[in-house]
Amino acid sequence: MTIKEIFDRMDYGPAPEGNAEAKAWLARHGATFGHFIDGQFTAPGQTFATKNPATGAELAQITQGSAQDIDTAVAAARRAQPKWARLPGHARAKYLYALARLIQKHARLLAVLETMDNGKPIRESRDIDIPLVARHFYYHAGLAQLMESELPGQAPLGVCGAVIPWNFPLLMLAWKVAPALAAGNTIVLKPAEYTPLTALLFAEITREAGLPKGVLNIVTGDGDTGAALVAHPGMDKIAFTGSTAVGKAIRRATAGTGKALTLELGGKSPYIVFDDADLDSAIEGLVDAIWFNQGQVCCAGSRLLVQEGIAPRFHEKLKRRMDGLRLGDPLDKCIDVGAVVDPVQLATITDMVRSSDGDIYHANTPLPAQGCYYPPTLITGLGTASRLMQEEIFGPVLVSMTFRTPAEAVELANNTRYGLAASVWTENVNLALDIAPKIKAGVVWVNATNLFDAAAGFGGVRESGFGREGGWEGLMAYLKPARAAKPLKPLPATPEPASFDAPALDRTAKLFIGGKQARPDGGYSRAVFSPRGRHLGHVGIGNRKDIRNAVEAAHAAKGWGKATGHNRAQILYYIAENLSARAAEFAARLKDLTGKDGAEEVEATISRLFTYAAWSDKFDGQAKSVPLRGIALAMNEPVGVIAALCPDEAPLLGLISVMAPAIAMGNTCVLVPSEPFPLAATDLYQVLETSDLPAGVVNIVTGSHAELAKPLAGHMDVDALWSFSSSDLSALIESESATNLKRTWVNHAKARDWTGAEGEGRPFLGHATAIKTVWVPYGE
Ligand code: NAI
Repeated sequence: MTIKEIFDRMDYGPAPEGNAEAKAWLARHGATFGHFIDGQFTAPGQTFATKNPATGAELAQITQGSAQDIDTAVAAARRAQPKWARLPGHARAKYLYALARLIQKHARLLAVLETMDNGKPIRESRDIDIPLVARHFYYHAGLAQLMESELPGQAPLGVCGAVIPWNFPLLMLAWKVAPALAAGNTIVLKPAEYTPLTALLFAEITREAGLPKGVLNIVTGDGDTGAALVAHPGMDKIAFTGSTAVGKAIRRATAGTGKALTLELGGKSPYIVFDDADLDSAIEGLVDAIWFNQGQVCCAGSRLLVQEGIAPRFHEKLKRRMDGLRLGDPLDKCIDVGAVVDPVQLATITDMVRSSDGDIYHANTPLPAQGCYYPPTLITGLGTASRLMQEEIFGPVLVSMTFRTPAEAVELANNTRYGLAASVWTENVNLALDIAPKIKAGVVWVNATNLFDAAAGFGGVRESGFGREGGWEGLMAYLKPARAAKPLKPLPATPEPASFDAPALDRTAKLFIGGKQARPDGGYSRAVFSPRGRHLGHVGIGNRKDIRNAVEAAHAAKGWGKATGHNRAQILYYIAENLSARAAEFAARLKDLTGKDGAEEVEATISRLFTYAAWSDKFDGQAKSVPLRGIALAMNEPVGVIAALCPDEAPLLGLISVMAPAIAMGNTCVLVPSEPFPLAATDLYQVLETSDLPAGVVNIVTGSHAELAKPLAGHMDVDALWSFSSSDLSALIESESATNLKRTWVNHAKARDWTGAEGEGRPFLGHATAIKTVWVPYGE
């Protein structure tokens, strides 16, 4: 071809990135790897192949980790942990800084190796994955440095286990390793079986950084190795990224063990294009949303929602752009779309698309003759309930549907069990900022997509999991209060004495549902006695049906979340005022129930209501310092419907200590009061009724904690369940919560001092909110 012809055609020529260094690195290891435990590579055991999906060629043999290997790695991590945690923050910061620097020094080798193992275009691994990895270590060097002054009273969790997926192998490693190490934990990490190589190279880099042995351990293997890691009793925390199905299995496997858990799972993120959007930008954004990393991205904009009037034009433009995408050798710098990670994933994508009854458009672009390639695909004409509209395809396949009004866009966007991310495209900033808070997702990008940074929290709601990675909020997931909690002693109700006097006037406390006092559905009640055997009255025994009614009422009252912080504060103050007017009566009731003077508890309860009235308009979000011309806002949003089994140690103060932060942050709630001492809560109905609290914001169902925990934990419309019950229900709650992956906060039979600082403040506010990161880039 002549130079003139090249200029005439303006075709891309090949621009291959060299892989000699990566091959040399593999050769240095004999292309066979053991695990990395206690600062050393172990001898390879039983191995499996990791392959280059673009060519099918074997890259290396990887050791399948056994339960014994996990045990050895956990023991090494355990030995190393106390010393690592005792280092001053500055010392840990220096190690993290060294890792960041070394990642930059080895950036090209890491990028090439990542592309060879995963199939992603070198453009992405070189310009996105690896720079973000380095940024993550730099950022966390800073968190390690500042932790002592900024987070006093916090301690590391201990030994953390991380199980990561194959779509961003080194980046997901960084998201787990950097905060764990910054906080003073040690870690055992299992990379995905398709993509273990950069983790092993990273292990080598930690040796260059002089990281003490045992601080980072890597055990390779498949799902069985992951399961062994999750099940290991020596783990203090599990951090998982991967599919929702495995996330649910891990929730069940860790239930009741006391292991902390964060889950970053799947998504079916909406990409909403309004008719006033800059369509060309929205098309380019879409390329990054769904064809970035072949669509194998948990937050991929995989569900296009386009306003009806522009839909035909938008789809036409989109198809033209799709036809221009270049598929091929991922090591070629001019390639837009690389190879799918493995033939298994390719078969899944192919089968899912084949099963579709929509109109399928495959990009008219040449497909390489061999290797794991799937063409960029658009599917239109699907119904809202169609499988492909609802399920993660995890491939380069976009499904599209139209909407008419902004309200319909929000409704369609939220019509999914997931809630990871969303993109909103419009030139009208008012519209964008109106829509962003209405979408159920952990991250919203305005006129942008797939922006990430270590300073900004990332994570989902609903079945996309819980916990945030990045920012101070991400670090908190690797810390716990330094003070060890004492065991909680069960407090049984006073048993019915052999004989007792009937109360002067019969009083049967009902339930409080939807602002009304309601009889328990089952028609059962039980007598409550003072410690000296005096009959104090009857209390209703709530059942599964009452829970359903209460949750329904709480849902109907969700408009509460839109009330301003100022309004919510007014109502909390008003509740305090009305309680104060009846302080003597409540104090007497507490004395009757528990035998202890109740005046102090009532005073503390009034103070606690003031605390959360104060917080209502002060638990501020943040503007994050991301390296972008624009802002990333971390907004504290209500979680939704919070249910709580209230403590027995302080029947009134305990109930208010969970109710007040929940409603201060805009949640509605279903409370099960102390089981042995319920009458302090039932007396509260009248206070709530006279305090302008909208009906349904607080619902109270008395009854057995053990019986009500299950329907609450399994309820699909409960968004979070807290248990401070003195019945130990933690295992049951955590296990049942896997149904919809609701957030849980349980006491694991540990006591809490409700009268002191432990009984209020930021941990409660944190559990009562979900952080949504809203990215708004500036500029034309
Ligand atoms: P996966 O969830 O099975 O694998 C993720 C990681 O978990 C891997 O390291 C795997 O070895 C490990 N694992 C598997 N079973 C485990 C168990 N029982 N206990 C502990 N660890 C276990 O994901 P997979 O099979 O690779 O992909 C299947 C689908 O999952 C994809 O098609 C996609 O829809 C989704 N996925 C979502 C990701 C996300 O970031 N949201 C990432 C990877 C996959």
